[in-house]
Amino acid sequence: MMGKTNKEIAARSDQVFIGTYSRYPAVMVKGAGCRLTDAEGKEYLDFLAGIAVCGLGHCHPAVTAAICHQACVLVHVSNLYYTEPQTELAELLTAHSFADRVFLANSGAEANEAAIKLARIWGGERYGIISLAGSFHGRTLATVAATGQAKFQKGFEPMPEGFSHAPFGDLTVLEAMITDQTCAILCEPLQGEGGVRPLDRDYLQGLRALCDKHDLLLIFDEIQTGMGRTGTLFAYEQLGVEPDIMTLAKALGNGLPIGAMVTRKGIAAAFTPGTHASTFGGNPVASAAAVATMKVMLADGFLAEVREKGNYLHEQLQVLASRFPALATGARGLGLIQGLVLTEAGVENGGVIVTRMFEKGCLINFAGNVALRFLPPLIVSREEIDQMIQILTEVLGEM
Ligand SMILES: Cc1ncc(COP(=O)(O)O)c(C=O)c1O
Repeated sequence: MMGKTNKEIAARSDQVFIGTYSRYPAVMVKGAGCRLTDAEGKEYLDFLAGIAVCGLGHCHPAVTAAICHQACVLVHVSNLYYTEPQTELAELLTAHSFADRVFLANSGAEANEAAIKLARIWGGERYGIISLAGSFHGRTLATVAATGQAKFQKGFEPMPEGFSHAPFGDLTVLEAMITDQTCAILCEPLQGEGGVRPLDRDYLQGLRALCDKHDLLLIFDEIQTGMGRTGTLFAYEQLGVEPDIMTLAKALGNGLPIGAMVTRKGIAAAFTPGTHASTFGGNPVASAAAVATMKVMLADGFLAEVREKGNYLHEQLQVLASRFPALATGARGLGLIQGLVLTEAGVENGGVIVTRMFEKGCLINFAGNVALRFLPPLIVSREEIDQMIQILTEVLGEM
């Protein structure tokens, strides 16, 4: 016990922060595995993992050891010099993906900014990027412009030029939107913030074919779906489609801020010294955390277990949907990013369901005003899945 209540610390916080967040009334002080503890000692079963960040759970010993070691040796030097942790990270990313070149950033939005800039400089005179309705790509101006949800753009107009949004899942309309100014198509293989909406294989393969036909870059935003979340290291691996550029962040450093934009050599050549940069990008401590994270994820059997547990969570959510047809229509997702899609009546109660779950000590959220979203640490156990389902059953039963 810290001697200060959730209420006291939250009140202090509200006095000094710009009000960009509406937070739940808990001050988190400790995390281990799939559990968080607040300032009053209450425990939470975490099925959000810091919004798809702590893939290995909170304070994974291998990641903590790597952070502590690196923090004792070298914390920061900028990208004027080489460091081994970022080199090792880039080697791991290229060894385990389609890519052979890497740019390191600090966040998802920055990784997407790098991808947008690379596509534009690669495109020469062409600058247009087509993304999808319902997508989410970040909060900087360019990534907000790429995001296919008007609510994130409202009040910040005029948006940067060169972004258009194709309807979800419609290749014909998308092809008609391609002009001689278009340089790239940007999409998430599964829309996370948009309500856990997977795009099907045929559609994604169709996008690849369109990019090849019109000489466009295919950019996959795997910031939420990457790093094992879907049961393969990257979602594209199970979809039969290779992008030209992929962006990563979130779970890459298991909680330390780091992002990456990866691509192939020929495309990467459009960036030359001075065209793009980041002071902190690939910082040694964040890189060391990411190296440790990747090594755990790449160990034998880890991803197979994610797939198995993902199937189990999916099945349990389907059972729940059939028990509460007035509230939920079914489950969807890949691996351990799963959504329980709500009916109209369910949607009206989405926020209340999440709050009741919180009060009962279980963290989930409501994505895209469509689906309850479940993003447990990938190390979650079946027992923990059962516990979450039991709490959710109680909550849905009380609605
Ligand atoms: C698919 C996707 N892209 C980009 C982002 C932005 O990442 P960040 O918040 O690290 O800037 C997110 C964050 O939710 C995301 O889910």
